[in-house]
Amino acid sequence: MKKLAPSILSADFSKLAEEVAQIEAGGADYIHVDVMDGHFVPNISFGAAVMKSLLGKTNLPFDVHLMIENPDDYLEDFMTDNTAFITVHQEACVHLNRTVQHIKSLGVKAGVSLNPATSLSVLDYIIEDLDMVLIMSVNPGFGGQKFIPSALEKIRELSEVRRAEGLDFEIEVDGGANLDNVQELASAGTDIIVAGSAVFKTPDITETTKQFISKIRSI
Ligand code: DX5
Ligand code: ZN
Repeated sequence: MKKLAPSILSADFSKLAEEVAQIEAGGADYIHVDVMDGHFVPNISFGAAVMKSLLGKTNLPFDVHLMIENPDDYLEDFMTDNTAFITVHQEACVHLNRTVQHIKSLGVKAGVSLNPATSLSVLDYIIEDLDMVLIMSVNPGFGGQKFIPSALEKIRELSEVRRAEGLDFEIEVDGGANLDNVQELASAGTDIIVAGSAVFKTPDITETTKQFISKIRSI
């Protein structure tokens, strides 16, 4: 079943729990947690404390997307009862295999994300160990950017690799998803769709969440 992971990067932080309750009411599957350090990406978002402030206020699992340098130093901070995935960037990891094993040793699923200009081939010797591959369809750092079309071809290729090799990692796409392109993204082989501004910057967050879900589950 296709899943939706709204990104709280685009939420109103002054009423975060309330807006998270709205995506939960709309049937969202995960809370996508965009952590930015101002080094790996040219923006600072929030850290583990903000994510942890949602504990006890939602039943949704956390899908943690670390856009940070030296992620190994911070993995434990993001471990909570709600944490489902921790995803790191291939471009930020000198010892990617070690980092992936570190994530798994904490008892959560491990994802690796690729920037738009990074080839799928960088995953050749690690793909069997991954629970998720996150394809960036914008350059990471900001919400509300325009979808980069070459990501679609990348998702199709990755989906084919998964089929040909008999693997079962999930494919996630992140950046520029909206109600107009979400079905194409899902049809290309994406399992988990991240959407930030297209969910939170709308007048009725619950209703928009429902619309996304109905589109991705009807393909
Ligand atoms: C970008 C983040 C995305 C972002 C998506 O660096 O990783 O998750 O919040 O936002 P939209 O859906 O607005 O492009
Ligand atoms: Zn993200």
